[in-house]
Amino acid sequence: MECLVIDGGYGLHGEIKVQGSKNGALPVLAASVLGGRSVIHNCPRLTDTDSSLEILRMLGCGAVRNGNTVTVDADCVPRCDIPPELMRRMRSSVIFLGAVLARCGRAIVSAPGGCELGPRPIDLHLSAMRKLGAEITEKDGLVCCESRGRLKGAEIVLPFPSVGATENIIIAASTAKGRTTLVGAAKEPEITELADFINAKGGRISGAGSDVLVIDGVEAAGNCEHTCIPDRIAAATFIAAAAATGSELTLSDVCPEHIAAVISVFEKAGCRFETKGGKLTVAAPERLKAVRFLQTAPYPAFPTDAQAVTAAALATADGVSVISETIFGSRFRYLRELKRMGANAESEGGIAVIRGVDRLRGAEMHCTDLRGGAALVVAALGAEGRSEIRSLRHIDRGYESFEAALAALGAKIYRNVKNETADTIDVFREASGV
Ligand code: UD1
Repeated sequence: MECLVIDGGYGLHGEIKVQGSKNGALPVLAASVLGGRSVIHNCPRLTDTDSSLEILRMLGCGAVRNGNTVTVDADCVPRCDIPPELMRRMRSSVIFLGAVLARCGRAIVSAPGGCELGPRPIDLHLSAMRKLGAEITEKDGLVCCESRGRLKGAEIVLPFPSVGATENIIIAASTAKGRTTLVGAAKEPEITELADFINAKGGRISGAGSDVLVIDGVEAAGNCEHTCIPDRIAAATFIAAAAATGSELTLSDVCPEHIAAVISVFEKAGCRFETKGGKLTVAAPERLKAVRFLQTAPYPAFPTDAQAVTAAALATADGVSVISETIFGSRFRYLRELKRMGANAESEGGIAVIRGVDRLRGAEMHCTDLRGGAALVVAALGAEGRSEIRSLRHIDRGYESFEAALAALGAKIYRNVKNETADTIDVFREASGV
């Protein structure tokens, strides 16, 4: 089985360009269904973005990738149903619901997939679509949303600032008749990115980045060119990798203000940060200090997506760290794998207690989910000896050329591919120095 082989204990050094944001690109790709031609730069090459392109093509749009630039032509969208097989590939497939409904007046989808993080309902998405005038029926696991003509602007209050529901509402309301006011919106940078993208297509969305959004519906979406924002979770992952290996790394193409909460936690752990010329340098101490209490919460607080990689770095910190996960209660499954490396970590409910050990030892592990998988890589980079990490499909959903990026920073890492020949392994080994 394909695996990442990591010989841990080597420092990282140098500069890394942070990839374009996965969580920004996916809603932008979905919103491109609204109409016109969208040229999207800095779109990360990931299996999740590939799945979005497949959905777009299946709907009848043109969707072409050239390196990190994707062009979507949505002059004609003949289909309005997304097969369950495509829906299941990722959670973000649900964002196509608002886009297809707005564009076609009808959308047929099934429950979305994505990481197993506990229950991930879509009730907030559906009740908002109803408010915008859609009729919704559910049968045999399929959700059918229908509007007679254009959707209608409405006042919507979200009881929780759901990122996905906010995205669906923004997209669906952008071509609705009249004004939509959304109170209790999510404030993540990816929401602002989505609003900027739709506005570039002629939309009229204001308030993005605050918890009240005003969306004045326009008749149709036009052409636009867009550049995806830097991926704040990939940035957090490289910071965690530097922290776990006692290294100094420079990140380029990064927005430090998007990861202020992450920077603050790693500062508490003893890392030093410097911003210069649009780049962010992190310098980690030989051994981190424990972080007494860390809590995930909606932006601008500490992101749930950075929780696992941070825990991995804290596994060898001096002292006891306590992490409270408030977004997805069962997001600690990766701890079971970290324990194979000798981590002293327990979780109950949404709380994890991590007692820092002197060092982790290389082990064989399986990724439990996307960010949990990245956490295993972070831990293995700092561990003594060799680790083998399997179930890489999770990591491939969210990190562009992860092992190549880390190898370029000095990590001893390579991907042992299926049906490998001795020659292929040697080439990889030579390239990565393992
Ligand atoms: C969430 C994260 C996002 C992250 C993504 C992938 C937050 C607030 N959201 O976004 O940062 O990038 O996972 O890991 O940090 N909920 C409902 N009903 C709904 C929708 C959501 O009850 O219809 C609940 C969820 O169960 C969860 C919470 O709201 O407890 C957050 O959900 P939401 O923000 O919608 O999740 P994602 O959009 O997947």
